[in-house]
Amino acid sequence: MSVAIAPTIERPETCSLDNYLVLPDYSMDQRIAAARRLLGASTIILGHHYQRDEVIRFADFRGDSYKLSEEAARANARYIVFCGVHFMAESADVLAQDGQQVILPDLNAGCSMADMAEIGQVESCWEQLVDLGLTDERGNGITPLTYMNSTAAIKAFCGERGGLVCTSSNAAGAFRWAFSRTQKILFLPDQHLGRNTAYAMGLPLNEYVVWDPYMIMGGVTPERLRQAKVILWKGHCSVHQRFLPEHVDKVRTRYPGIQVIVHPECRWEVCQKADGIGSTERLIKIIQDAPSGSRFAVGTEIHLVNRMAKEFAHQNKKVITLDDSGCLCTTMFRISPQHLCWVLENLLEDNVVNRIQVPADVKHWARVALDRMLEIA
Ligand code: 13P
Ligand code: SF4
Repeated sequence: MSVAIAPTIERPETCSLDNYLVLPDYSMDQRIAAARRLLGASTIILGHHYQRDEVIRFADFRGDSYKLSEEAARANARYIVFCGVHFMAESADVLAQDGQQVILPDLNAGCSMADMAEIGQVESCWEQLVDLGLTDERGNGITPLTYMNSTAAIKAFCGERGGLVCTSSNAAGAFRWAFSRTQKILFLPDQHLGRNTAYAMGLPLNEYVVWDPYMIMGGVTPERLRQAKVILWKGHCSVHQRFLPEHVDKVRTRYPGIQVIVHPECRWEVCQKADGIGSTERLIKIIQDAPSGSRFAVGTEIHLVNRMAKEFAHQNKKVITLDDSGCLCTTMFRISPQHLCWVLENLLEDNVVNRIQVPADVKHWARVALDRMLEIA
């Protein structure tokens, strides 16, 4: 597809990324807006809530991982520009139709949690569980369930063994679905989301074990593995794990009556002290629905907290971060206005840069796992 280029727009001589990275942020706005306009319906821009203001203001749709995967699945545009992190763009590619292309403006925008589970480690864990007789190869015995924040290969691994994907907004439904299939779940890769979800369903803490991929037999005895209902992978989000129960106590002392709401990637001890828990979309909704004069301390990524503080100030609602030092997701931050401008202006030249393409064999089973998630919702 060739897109007409307006003669009035000045472009750098070459569309090389280096030419963009030296430009100041303020000079990007007009160019991004112009490129966006020219690309028209050929392109949609999806933006995760943790993106910076200079980027998310150009998103056609913003949302949490679940909402963005739905948008990706129903998009008609030829190009899906994903302002988020690698696993999100991979999922969009898995859900995309033939002929659609998914672009991640900076390929270095990964996720440290997703990196904590490699497919080889997961296969080795599974073999050991099979050897113990806890499941067969196909997942008759244990349902593998992975958080969206994982590679497409792990999603495919789960899909092929009767399992599925979940996000922070539908983890409880996914756990129920998995328990209706088998008595045990292997939950990857976020131990905190897994623990918080299982506990909220009424499963006591002694029903879970944590599998450490760097230890022999995950560091768990065969007996404990036989007893456990949930095997949690030892992974976490370095942004959310920084919030501590002490932060909750401190903020409550400093602002009596303040409500503490946190993302379920936070530690169990933090979630237990919170007034509300939810995905990024849910956290926004809780504040939106609260009466004027409400005050919230929020345990999630700092860009979202700062944005809510600004946007809800007009409704006389106070929003602060749960931890004064603020928690930045450095990989989300990698998507800069310069990167966004670069990919859009390249599209104007019919040049697709930073395409995310999941191999066909992985795509098939990852799609099965993602479709199961979308169906149970
Ligand atoms: P949400 O699905 O709640 O947006 O979470 C994604 C994420 O990466 C949180 O760290
Ligand atoms: Fe990954 Fe944590 Fe960043 Fe979310 S906030 S993308 S889980 S590193």
